[in-house]
Amino acid sequence: MNSKILKSGHIKLYKRENSQFWQMKLKLPKLKSIRSSTGSKILKEAEKIALNYYSSLSKKTKINIGRTKNIFKKIHLVETADLTKKEIEHILNEAKKYILFNKKKIKHMNILEGRTIFNLFFEDSTRTRTSFEVAAKRLGADLINVVVKDSSINKGETLLDTMTTINSMNPDVLIVRHPEEGISKKISETVDASIINAGDGSHEHPTQALLDALTIKNKFNNFSKLKIAICGDILHSRVARSNIIILSKLGSKINVVGPKEWLPKNLRKLPVRVFTDMRKGLENCDIVMMLRIQKERIVGKIMPDQRSYFKKYGLDYNKLKYAKKNAFVMHPGPMNRGVEIDSKLADDITISLIQEQVAMGVAVRMACLALIIKNRDNNVS
Ligand code: NCD
Repeated sequence: MNSKILKSGHIKLYKRENSQFWQMKLKLPKLKSIRSSTGSKILKEAEKIALNYYSSLSKKTKINIGRTKNIFKKIHLVETADLTKKEIEHILNEAKKYILFNKKKIKHMNILEGRTIFNLFFEDSTRTRTSFEVAAKRLGADLINVVVKDSSINKGETLLDTMTTINSMNPDVLIVRHPEEGISKKISETVDASIINAGDGSHEHPTQALLDALTIKNKFNNFSKLKIAICGDILHSRVARSNIIILSKLGSKINVVGPKEWLPKNLRKLPVRVFTDMRKGLENCDIVMMLRIQKERIVGKIMPDQRSYFKKYGLDYNKLKYAKKNAFVMHPGPMNRGVEIDSKLADDITISLIQEQVAMGVAVRMACLALIIKNRDNNVS
């Protein structure tokens, strides 16, 4: 490894071609960046030196790096757990600006003109990949699609090499989907480009949860009065995890409902109530969010019989009656019709927000790309 990023891009450690010593580049907000040698050949030691120097500098300049005045200033989007309530609200407000724009006849802006964005998808995706592509292109950026579904590259080490290679082409943002949990974070610590996590195994899918929140905000505005049921294969679902974190931070109450074997043991650590029964779990809910059974992650285990699963956990008009009158239905897609959700209900636009979710996806991703690139311009010189 010849470079490492710390403190969300404020510190960069790197090696010059002709030197064994680690160099550091520090960037404090509103100040010119400082470059210097750490005087160390050992990365761990160099990291300590850079961090100490950075904190002494930030004390001197009285700049509190941790505080972002409640606005999203990050250059990566890898985990919802990293986001504060104010940051989430800020992203949603920014995204709102693009909703009307996306309904215009000519949908083109040049705020990201000349910027290079890579879609790096190591897992199947149509919806998320095209959504990012549409978002990037509407803002005028150049987007390169790299779709790799090759098991040899799905190993962490090789992947980091691939990322370093792509990083050498000076991209602004890498959008990464990969089956390995936590891989986006690792990549963000290795390359210069900004990273957006488009799904890492069963771990997180931040932009999906943000687009779900925007869809809900359009209907209700006030999250704190809402009770939301998230139902189905919770154990393997990154969408469930990211939604639990985002929606609870926004103040909603969350019920999770699913068969016992698909309820993760550590759920109790999250701000949720847990149910195995749809009747109880949906009681008084304003939103019922259904999840796809993640077949690709259920390897070597017995899959439930689809018909009996639908009978117990599939959402149809009858089960929806357990929720509040006028409750809405959501699903991140792709759907298994007749397994998680009744086909007619999924298409009933008076109840189902599924198409709206897709539309909000583009708006949210436009906001995330624009914000992240703006933050890079302000933070990293
Ligand atoms: C979700 C995903 O990939 O995690 N889909 C999506 O992003 N559109 C949900 C799923 O695949 O079930």
